[in-house]
Amino acid sequence: MKKELRKAVIAGNWKMNNTPAQTTALINEMKPLVADADCEVVLCVPYIDIPAAVEAAKGSNIKIGAENVHFKASGAYTGEVSTDMLKEAGVEYVVIGHSERRTYFGETDQTVNLRSLAALNAGLKAIICVGETLEQRELGYTETLLKFQTKMALTNVKPEQLKNVIIAYEPVWAIGTGVTATADQADEGNGFVRAAIAEAYGADLAETVTVQYGGSMNAKNAEELVSKVNVDGGLIGGASLKAQDFSVIVKAASK
Ligand code: 13P
Repeated sequence: MKKELRKAVIAGNWKMNNTPAQTTALINEMKPLVADADCEVVLCVPYIDIPAAVEAAKGSNIKIGAENVHFKASGAYTGEVSTDMLKEAGVEYVVIGHSERRTYFGETDQTVNLRSLAALNAGLKAIICVGETLEQRELGYTETLLKFQTKMALTNVKPEQLKNVIIAYEPVWAIGTGVTATADQADEGNGFVRAAIAEAYGADLAETVTVQYGGSMNAKNAEELVSKVNVDGGLIGGASLKAQDFSVIVKAASK
């Protein structure tokens, strides 16, 4: 186990929250609180908030991400946003395949793979989400499902592109519910993800990939979660909307 090979990444996923003005205010509040971080600090924000977020984060250690990206370069895809548009706006990270997109917006393992390839080929860092539902867990499919989703997402991703890949293990039953996976469950799920990467790319490369945990991570439970050998940071929903709480999580991952 080589946790020291990987830099922890704490990423906020704001989901559909905050207007541009609220974005400016929240990032200005966060900046001094996370300035000493010894981990990567990322905020993934709604498209409309990106210019305000990039402007507010300028000169700080906060990197800005988007919450989705389309896989075509341009064309007749009403409502979609391309990698070029994101890059020109100053975006460095993009969340792909979040369970809310899979559940509400018809995202499939195939489209997650296409979006991941587009993001990586454009030089963006992809935060690819995988995770089982409660029903799948109770049926005993967690390992099978996590490995399948991970391998599908990474199909045709070149070994040298893995340095820009982050996988976020987000058990669907733990998202926005206040029910967090235990630290051991998070470590086990992240371990299944890493094992899938090892099966596809070899163990050495798999040890270098950042695997986050997400799902009701908060100021109270973050330290125990990120202390686990396979947990290289977190993807944070609700707690990333509060500067103080988010900064406590960043500090936990900086130890
Ligand atoms: P919560 O932290 O609100 O449970 O959300 C987790 C998540 O979905 C992050 O992408």
